[in-house]
Amino acid sequence: MRYDPKSVRNRYDEIADEEDRQEKHHTLRTEIPREFIKKYLKKEDVVLDAGGGTGINAILMAKKCKHVTLLDISPKVLEHAIRNVKKANLSKKIDIIKGDISDLSEFKDGAFSFILCVGDAISYVLEKRFKAMHELVRVAKKGSILIIGCDSKYGFMRQSLAKGDLKEAISINKTHETYCGMGPRTHVYSIDEMKKLLQENGCAVLEIASTPTITDTVEKKPFYSRWLSLKKLEMELCKKPELLGIGNHLLFIAKKK
Ligand SMILES: C[S@@+](CC[C@H](N)C(=O)[O-])C[C@H]1O[C@@H](n2cnc3c(N)ncnc32)[C@H](O)[C@@H]1O
Repeated sequence: MRYDPKSVRNRYDEIADEEDRQEKHHTLRTEIPREFIKKYLKKEDVVLDAGGGTGINAILMAKKCKHVTLLDISPKVLEHAIRNVKKANLSKKIDIIKGDISDLSEFKDGAFSFILCVGDAISYVLEKRFKAMHELVRVAKKGSILIIGCDSKYGFMRQSLAKGDLKEAISINKTHETYCGMGPRTHVYSIDEMKKLLQENGCAVLEIASTPTITDTVEKKPFYSRWLSLKKLEMELCKKPELLGIGNHLLFIAKKK
């Protein structure tokens, strides 16, 4: 299938309230990347949060760094981001822009020192992923950290098989594409594929994690008091080479050379 920005935008407009709820209510999908953001973000950083959603990561980052630009394709998601940023009293430190990661032409080369693109926008752009990665790396200055999150091919195959859908698992294996839960059509990556894409764009891969690895993307609620123990367990396992790849999402920490 070819990338259709209108259908991605419409889908996220429809699910903007649920997206806001998930970003605020600590799922493993959001919590594990946040640990890596904490590890790598520096106080002098100027950040691009691409596919930034309703702004919860942008708010966390703006409290620590110099400036954040949040870019997202969905006007409804951006309405939440504007409200959340205002409520956090961080409107002066966070710019909010409507845009598409496959065309960052409004930003100069090297405009940012830290690029965050988590939550799978790089999967939703389908065949435009080469252009999108080129753009994300182009707007990063030399030495910048890039944290890129994508949907995982083997994780999605595992999920289809868990539901008894062998036909879909075989199709994902062949096409590297499926529908992403409540989200749009998605290109699912193997580790080697994303590693190659980053390396071909002049980045060194520093770390790879799955988010989450052995639990499916769960919310805090069912785990109640055990949430912190579950998160600790997932953090311990998320970089194990023997497990990488079977998680729902993959997270790549890279450095522009
Ligand atoms: C699953 S949410 C993740 C939000 C946030 N980054 C997080 O991890 O919590 C994906 C977001 O990417 C946005 N998005 C999808 N495709 C995009 C594109 N091509 N350009 C910019 N934003 C995009 C969606 O509108 C949505 O807000």
